[in-house]
Amino acid sequence: MDAGRLFARLAARAVVARPALWRLFRWPLRAQFDALAPAWEELLGPEALASLEAALDCLDAPPARVLDVGTGTGKAARLVAERFPEAEVLGVDLAPAMVEEARRLLLPELADRVRFQVADASALPGPDRAFDLVVLLNMIPFFDELARVIAPGGSLVVAHVSGPSTPIWTPPETLRARLAPLGFDSFEELAAGGGTALVARRNAAE
Ligand SMILES: C[S@@+](CC[C@H](N)C(=O)[O-])C[C@H]1O[C@@H](n2cnc3c(N)ncnc32)[C@H](O)[C@@H]1O
Repeated sequence: MDAGRLFARLAARAVVARPALWRLFRWPLRAQFDALAPAWEELLGPEALASLEAALDCLDAPPARVLDVGTGTGKAARLVAERFPEAEVLGVDLAPAMVEEARRLLLPELADRVRFQVADASALPGPDRAFDLVVLLNMIPFFDELARVIAPGGSLVVAHVSGPSTPIWTPPETLRARLAPLGFDSFEELAAGGGTALVARRNAAE
């Protein structure tokens, strides 16, 4: 693993364990991903989205309002929009250059339903309970904010393109342990195309 990937892995582990450490990692990670943005879209192969696709197959109902956190060049946001033609999709990313690429790569036929915005996952824009589905593809989970923005009965998908070898990787047992006290009461783990995913559902009664 090269130095950049190691740094991303270290940052993810540290921030999941102690979210307050995010303030130390925010600016270097933003600079790292800004620099990676022009080449990012081509870095992932055709199998990269397999685990995310498998996770979307598990959803109880098509989502209407979707958030892709740490969207990068927007791969997951585009996939979800194509998969669910009624859905409004917002992709957010800390790195402005990633958001610029995501906007550039968006097909005109999706432009009325898919938006990209610079935002920090540790302080997401918008009101509470605003999304039926939140997607994280190779992204650090900020648990309190995920719980805040996902509506009761909504779902969270956390997918990793290379399973535990993915630089930004959160083990499923950590995801379950951190999400359960926040009102997520149903979990499903999947593997596809070398990747893994966890689908968590938020209690509808809350
Ligand atoms: C490993 S990349 C994954 C990008 C995309 N989801 C994909 O798989 O192609 C992680 C992305 O998360 C973004 N990111 C990291 N920390 C973030 C934060 N706190 N808020 C928003 N985006 C963040 C980075 O800028 C980067 O674009």
